[in-house]
Amino acid sequence: MLKSTLIAATKAGAAEILRFFNSDFKISNKEGVNNLVTEADYAAEKAILGVIKDSFPDHQILAEESGELIQDSTYKWIIDPIDGTVNFAHGIPLNCVSIGIEHEGEIVMAAVYNPHMNEFYFAEKGKGATLNDKPIKVSEETQAIKACLVTGFPYTYINEPNGPLEMFERFVRKGVPVRRLGSAAIDLCWVAAGRFDGFFEHKLEAWDSAAGYLIVEEAGGKVTDLQGNKFSVYQHKVLATNGKIHDEMVAVINNKKELQ
Ligand code: IPD
Ligand code: CA
Ligand code: CA
Repeated sequence: MLKSTLIAATKAGAAEILRFFNSDFKISNKEGVNNLVTEADYAAEKAILGVIKDSFPDHQILAEESGELIQDSTYKWIIDPIDGTVNFAHGIPLNCVSIGIEHEGEIVMAAVYNPHMNEFYFAEKGKGATLNDKPIKVSEETQAIKACLVTGFPYTYINEPNGPLEMFERFVRKGVPVRRLGSAAIDLCWVAAGRFDGFFEHKLEAWDSAAGYLIVEEAGGKVTDLQGNKFSVYQHKVLATNGKIHDEMVAVINNKKELQ
């Protein structure tokens, strides 16, 4: 029931993404000049919540656009109705629905669906990760210098030592390819699928990372904060890798080792 509801909710959100994509939808601004929200974000979230509330009216919700619904339940659905809204608003088909289910403080089930590519990622704790029902696993790369990485940048500049641009520059100066897709959930899933060897970002919210985190872990990868400490979806800094380059990435990121 949990799994079928998760799949139905994810697909209901994705149907709204496709319905509005490249149409004349309303766009407004959140905090930060390019932090957009569209009519489609609200419609997708409404469709997702409708499916969940039909089956599990007592479950808790944390959804990007409508906020928190706190109830007496050990389950919490963590929802990003469109991850990659800037891409969506520009007609770039790299955006998705991302939903993670937390039970007693742990993410136990996750779905990320990019309907433009028809890529449905799913994971259940202890049962592996799949892309369109086929098992996926992380890459085999063992050296950070040979890795293909992906990152993302926040909507507002983070003025701190070792911030996003500094870290990006450190890898790029050594010739390491570092992509920027514009959807953290897709970034994480592409690490899980072995397309990228690693992903780092400084300022994610729970709805950006909850689903992708479990999908990476269940595909055999590792997710921590940028220091290599245990990951929680409620803190902002994320490092996700195939596991094999993780310690080296932590050392390079924290200036403890030169990338070579
Ligand atoms: C954003 C995307 C982006 C990341 C931002 C997120 P949104 O989510 O995941 O890749 O760099 O930090 O806020 O706003 O498109 O849901
Ligand atoms: Ca997001
Ligand atoms: Ca969003």
